[in-house]
Amino acid sequence: MKIVCIGGGPAGLYFALLMKAQDAAHDITVVERNLPYDTFGWGVVFSDATMDNMRAWDPPTAATIRQAFNHWDDIELHFKGRVIRSGGHGFVGIGRKKLLNILQARCEELGVRLVFEREVASDAEYPDADLVIASDGINSRIRGEHADVFKPDIVTRPNRYLWLGTKKLYDAFTFLFEKTEHGWFQAHVYKFDEATTTFIVETPEHVWKAHGLDQADQEQSIAFCEKLFAGNLQGERLMTNARHLRGSAWLNFQRVKCEQWSHFNGRNHVVLMGDAVHTAHFAIGSGTKLAIEDAIELTRQFNEIGAIREHIPAVLERYQALRSIDVLRLQNAAWNAMEWFEAVGQRYADTLPPEQFMYSMLTRSQRISHENLRLRDKTWLAGFERWFAEQSALQSGVPVVAAAATPPMFTPYKLRGVVLKNRVVVSPMAQYSCADGIPGEYHLVHLGARAMGGAGMVVAEMTCTAPDARITPGCPGLWNEAQRDAWKRIVDWVHRETDAKVAIQIGHAGPKGSTNAPWQGSGADRPLAAGNWPLVAASAQAYLEDGGQVPRAMTRSDMSRVREDFVRATRLAAEAGFDWLELHCAHGYLLSCFISPLTNRRGDEYGGTLANRLRYPLEVFAAVREAWPEQLPLSVRISAHDWVDGGITPDDAVEIARCFKAAGADMIDCSSGQVSAKQQPTYGRMYQTPFADRIRNEAGIPTLAVGAISEADHVNSIVAAGRADLCAVARPHLANPAWTLMEAAKIGYQAQPWPKQYLAAKQQLERNLERERVQAGMASAEQANRALGV
Ligand SMILES: Cc1cc2nc3c(=O)[nH]c(=O)nc-3n(C[C@H](O)[C@H](O)[C@H](O)COP(=O)(O)OP(=O)(O)OC[C@H]3O[C@@H](n4cnc5c(N)ncnc54)[C@H](O)[C@@H]3O)c2cc1C
Ligand SMILES: Cc1cc2nc3c(=O)[nH]c(=O)nc-3n(C[C@H](O)[C@H](O)[C@H](O)COP(=O)(O)O)c2cc1C
Repeated sequence: MKIVCIGGGPAGLYFALLMKAQDAAHDITVVERNLPYDTFGWGVVFSDATMDNMRAWDPPTAATIRQAFNHWDDIELHFKGRVIRSGGHGFVGIGRKKLLNILQARCEELGVRLVFEREVASDAEYPDADLVIASDGINSRIRGEHADVFKPDIVTRPNRYLWLGTKKLYDAFTFLFEKTEHGWFQAHVYKFDEATTTFIVETPEHVWKAHGLDQADQEQSIAFCEKLFAGNLQGERLMTNARHLRGSAWLNFQRVKCEQWSHFNGRNHVVLMGDAVHTAHFAIGSGTKLAIEDAIELTRQFNEIGAIREHIPAVLERYQALRSIDVLRLQNAAWNAMEWFEAVGQRYADTLPPEQFMYSMLTRSQRISHENLRLRDKTWLAGFERWFAEQSALQSGVPVVAAAATPPMFTPYKLRGVVLKNRVVVSPMAQYSCADGIPGEYHLVHLGARAMGGAGMVVAEMTCTAPDARITPGCPGLWNEAQRDAWKRIVDWVHRETDAKVAIQIGHAGPKGSTNAPWQGSGADRPLAAGNWPLVAASAQAYLEDGGQVPRAMTRSDMSRVREDFVRATRLAAEAGFDWLELHCAHGYLLSCFISPLTNRRGDEYGGTLANRLRYPLEVFAAVREAWPEQLPLSVRISAHDWVDGGITPDDAVEIARCFKAAGADMIDCSSGQVSAKQQPTYGRMYQTPFADRIRNEAGIPTLAVGAISEADHVNSIVAAGRADLCAVARPHLANPAWTLMEAAKIGYQAQPWPKQYLAAKQQLERNLERERVQAGMASAEQANRALGV
């Protein structure tokens, strides 16, 4: 085949040499606009895993890189006068120049034609090529030429960064944070050869401008950075090698994604590779890895399907199908890491103590979990766990028994006068199993079993403030004394038989009332077949467009009546002995439908701006707080994202949380969605936790994270990083009431108390799980031995 690679970066060169190494008969040319051995940039990093991959595909290249690279394991944080270091992270650093030199030399050795100092304007310049690789980098001209086919999606990010070098040598991947009068700067620092270190300085646009860096030339910018990081540089200079860039050389990262990766231009097939088709922020250091792995995958497909012109369409189709999945995964992780660095000044740097700041930074991509950190550096994590347990003991007033051996999930937490024994909460879950709103035997068993299951607190489902406030006829209520007494029986049982706390969530269904239980009639959210009651809402708008009941827009007197219903339910909840109250302002129910612009269309002082839309929910909150005992916590559940254009966004959620905080809320329970039937949520593990993180660290109020939190590792990571104070777990508790006991045993935490009647099971479970762990360890050792031929 005749192949032309436009652009001689890592992608173009590596693909060229891999294909030539597979079959010397291929006619391959790499065309590069720069001089040979001339390039921009300093060092790049990639992981040990990428090196293994390269070794499998072209051992000579991997061997030469191996001799030239710098390997290091540690990450070191310099923050607020503290230096914190953790190990086991495994990076390879190499000068970009060195890497390209190695790839160029190998290309020449194999017979790839290298053409330098030639700027290609179009793929049409190579009409006789079977395949054109557009490996022309982030500003790809070829991608631009066929933008209608490739459909690039390019997002420019707000932070500014400057890619510098220094002769000061560092023995760890180092992160430096410095605060100025205008905000925070950070430097990402890593040595890449015996004499040089990459030094990337980054800051938000507004901080950059406030320092006048938008007016500064390269010399002035370097002088500024040298002064800012003088304490660390200790007299060493910073250097640039981006003189080709005009102006200040401070860049904005651009995230590139393409819908289509290849194109037949009428004569030849053109395919995008490397930065031309996707970029990943340097916070995760993987742009070169992606470029290299693209080259490997395309070569693999030619090997498998056949490296002849006829097979090119099939090869390219498979290349995109396979690569785009891995790339998306990595881009998601890179996006999280990038956002962490973009938000660090406004969210974490001023709020988190250095130990927790380090933990948050290490887990910023959300791909590294608590147990993952243990595998990387057991000693550092043990020290962190001890620190966290001690902080928690100070916060809760509960003395630490064995701080050294307490995972974050199992540390106590105090809010007002209530201490939870650990960070797990059974999330409220509607059971639709009451008659006349009275919880009976079913609820005693359901909530009792979960209270025995090890969670710090059990939250009873949405309990309605009046008969017409119910979602379904089976919902529980708190509008009369019979209901209060029925709840008291359950609360007393939980208090007598367990050490769990018990909360109740009070709410009004609003536009989503008078419907079926999910298993009845035509299913959830649908009106009852008979016996519907009239609904009220912020506006006269049905939740379901097709056949939902249209509510009446509330009048001021409706509002006063409903507010007093909430107050009555609050008093009854206090009399029933609940430890904690949650006000339901989420999921499109009455208070939520006032907050969202999708459901609140009012023209009066209760509609329009967010402040107006919050007016009624805050009025109800204030009345409830007034009626709820001073020493007991009151949390608010909100939908932090409507997942519909024009609806509530996570930015709004921070503002909503600030308003409830100002009104006296103790915690925000961060759920999302269910406000509009048109929602398009992005599900995934812990998918709502970023909302809890933002609200906790930007609005400065404790949060409860919820949503697809399904293992101890998740809870540990969330709580340890300060993304939330507590974790609510719903569906896993339907599957297993003793979820917390089980998770404790799975991670080998034996200090978790069990109900005395169940102790025999604890020992057996722990023994069996320990045996499984040993067997799994033996099996993986055996596998490793087999792979090594031992
Ligand atoms: C500050 C910063 C730090 C980074 N750190 C890392 C890191 O630590 N680890 C990592 O893996 N990656 C890192 N990257 C990203 C990395 O540099 C790229 O992802 C990687 O180089 C992509 O390889 P590529 O071959 O696709 O593109 P490039 O390396 O950009 O190569 C494209 C080549 O095409 C040439 N070219 C462009 N247009 C034409 C044309 N019309 N005609 C002829 N030639 C042309 C260019 O001169 C260039 O040589 C970093 C990037 C930045 C900006
Ligand atoms: C059967 C069921 C009933 C629910 N009822 C309520 C409820 O009454 N109030 C509420 O705020 N959320 C309710 N939810 C939402 C859960 O509290 C929780 O936010 C959601 O299930 C996500 O958590 P998970 O991924 O751990 O299940 C319910 C969820 C389920 C599965």
